[in-house]
Amino acid sequence: MPISGRPFLQIPGPTLIPERIVRAMAQPIIDHRGAKFAALVREVLDGLKGIFQTRTGQIVIYPASGTGAWEACLVNALSPGDRVLSCVNGHFSHLFARTANSLGIEVDRLEVPYGAGVPADQVEARLRADTTRQIRAILVVHNETSTGVASSVAGVREAMNRARHPGLLLVDVVSSLASIDFRFDEWRVDVALTGAQKGLMLPPGLAILAVSEKALRASLAAKCPRAFWDWGPVLERNQRGEFPYTPATLLLFGLKESLAILNEEGLPQVFRRHARLAEATRRAVSAWGLRLLAQNADEYSNTVTAVVMPDGFDSDAYIAHANQRLDMSLGVGLGQVKGKIFRIGHLGSLNELELLGGLAGVEMTLKTFGVNVTLGAGLAAAQHYLLETA
Ligand SMILES: Cc1ncc(COP(=O)(O)O)c(C=O)c1O
Repeated sequence: MPISGRPFLQIPGPTLIPERIVRAMAQPIIDHRGAKFAALVREVLDGLKGIFQTRTGQIVIYPASGTGAWEACLVNALSPGDRVLSCVNGHFSHLFARTANSLGIEVDRLEVPYGAGVPADQVEARLRADTTRQIRAILVVHNETSTGVASSVAGVREAMNRARHPGLLLVDVVSSLASIDFRFDEWRVDVALTGAQKGLMLPPGLAILAVSEKALRASLAAKCPRAFWDWGPVLERNQRGEFPYTPATLLLFGLKESLAILNEEGLPQVFRRHARLAEATRRAVSAWGLRLLAQNADEYSNTVTAVVMPDGFDSDAYIAHANQRLDMSLGVGLGQVKGKIFRIGHLGSLNELELLGGLAGVEMTLKTFGVNVTLGAGLAAAQHYLLETA
C-alpha cells in the first residue's frame, strides 16, 4: 500500500532539497555561451570560495559525483608512479586510495580501525620516515561518512609541518563541506573535493574542487593522462564565464540558490545547527542503549551517526524493515561493517522537528524489529537536549 506524505530520507546524502532550490532549478534552460550564463558562473565560483573558506584557492566544477572529484583531484595533481600516503579509516577513504591505485599511483596505506579518526602522530611518523621525500601527497577524508567519524584536518596539517614534509594535502570534504567547519586556507589544504548532494542540498550531479596555487603548479608537471578531468581548460574557460563542455546548467541555478540559503543562515550558524542536531541524535542513541561506531567524542561526526546494531540483529534487515514499515531510508553499513551498523544522516536542509520525526521513526522500527528499546526514551533525550540548548 502506498504511504502518503514525503518519503523520509534520513541517509547521509543525497539530502533533502529545499523548495527554494527546486524552484530555482525549474527554469527554462539558457544558452551556456551567453552573457546570462557567464554571470551565473562567476557568481557561483565566487560564492563557493566563501564556503571552502578560501581567498586564494581556485574553484573547479564538473558535471559529476564525488567519485569523479576524486579522479579529477588525483589525475591533475599526480603522475603514475608517484607515491602517496592514504589515511584509510573507512569505506570512502578506502575507495579514495583504491582510485589512486587504479591510476598507477603507488599507495602507502595508513590503516586505522573503522570508528577512529586519522591519527596525526602516525601521519607525522610516516612522513618523518620518508627521508627522501618520495611521498607526493597525503590523502585524507575529512568526514568518513561510512563510520560517522570526523578527522582533524588541522591536525594532519600540523603533523606535516612538524615533519617539514612538502607533500600536497588532498582532502575529501564530500560529507563535511557546508555542514562541518572546514578551512581551506587556514589549514593550507591543496585540493579539497566534494559533491553537490550533501551539505550543498542539491541533487547529485556536481563535483566541486578547491585548488591551491601549489596544486596548480604541481598540475603543470603532473603526468597522469587526463582529458575530461583536466582542470586547465576548465579554469581557462571559466575566466570567460564558460566551460569547455556543456555544463549542468540547471544545477548551477540550484547552486546559486544554495549559496544564498547558506549565506542567509551564515556559515557559523550552519555549523552550530549541525552540531546541535548531531548531539541530539547521539543522546537518542545512548537512551536506546545502543553504541556508536565512532570511538572518540572529539571525532564524532556532525553530519552522520553510525549506530552499532545489537548482537543477533542484522542491520541490513533492520534498514529494509524501517523502509517497508515507514518509507524511511537509513544508511547501510558499508565495507567491513556491512550488516553491523546503520547510519542516521542529519545534514543539509534539516531542522529540529524533521530530525525528531526521523528519530521517532528509528525508535518505532527498532521496537517493531524486536530490539529492546523503550518507546519515547530516545525521543525524550533528544528533545531535552534541544530544549536545553534552544
Ligand atoms: C566521504 C565521501 N567521499 C566520496 C563519496 C563518493 O561520492 P559519490 O557517491 O557522489 O560519487 C561519498 C559518497 O557518499 C562520501 O561520503
